[in-house]
Amino acid sequence: MGKLAELRELVTGLEVISAAEAAPGLEVEEDALTFEGNAEKKARAFLAATGLPSLADDSGLCVDALGGRPGVWSARYAPTDAERIAKLLGELKGAQNRKAHFTCALCLALPGGAIERAVGECHGEIIDGPRGAHGFGYDPVFFVPSLGKTLAELTRPEKAGLSHRGQAMRAMAPKLAR
Ligand code: IMP
Repeated sequence: MGKLAELRELVTGLEVISAAEAAPGLEVEEDALTFEGNAEKKARAFLAATGLPSLADDSGLCVDALGGRPGVWSARYAPTDAERIAKLLGELKGAQNRKAHFTCALCLALPGGAIERAVGECHGEIIDGPRGAHGFGYDPVFFVPSLGKTLAELTRPEKAGLSHRGQAMRAMAPKLAR
């Protein structure tokens, strides 16, 4: 997915290591009811396990006509990307309101107990069928009207320029630099 690569591009002068390298085998259950809650739970768990500043994210798709679902359950909505998209399109069949947004919540937990947060959102519409071959997850059905393209029709740098994760990371970058 390239989260680590995106982060390394945004943060210079710091060594960034993955969760798997920092605390092999540590699994944190994402059972909070908000993106912010899950990100904080993960960041605190990795700080506790490693003693290192820990940055965690949680993200997902919120669809207006579904009352914000799948939301924090976006990854668990169905077993595979293709099945998640098919289920989403099924639930939206006949729906007039196609508005949706992605949210990304980042949490940085620092030794000493300080917590920094950043959030990014990307707004668009769910179209009737997949378009594009880039990205992952719900990207092929997430249409950005201002570009006339789905997120899956954008290159990685183009997507990072407007995505929820790119926005949250740019908001977090100065806090990391400090
Ligand atoms: P997590 O943040 O790794 O728990 O993932 C949440 C889920 O939300 C992912 O598995 C995807 O299904 C979906 N998701 C989050 N960000 C994106 C994105 O940028 N494009 C498409 N799907 C996304």
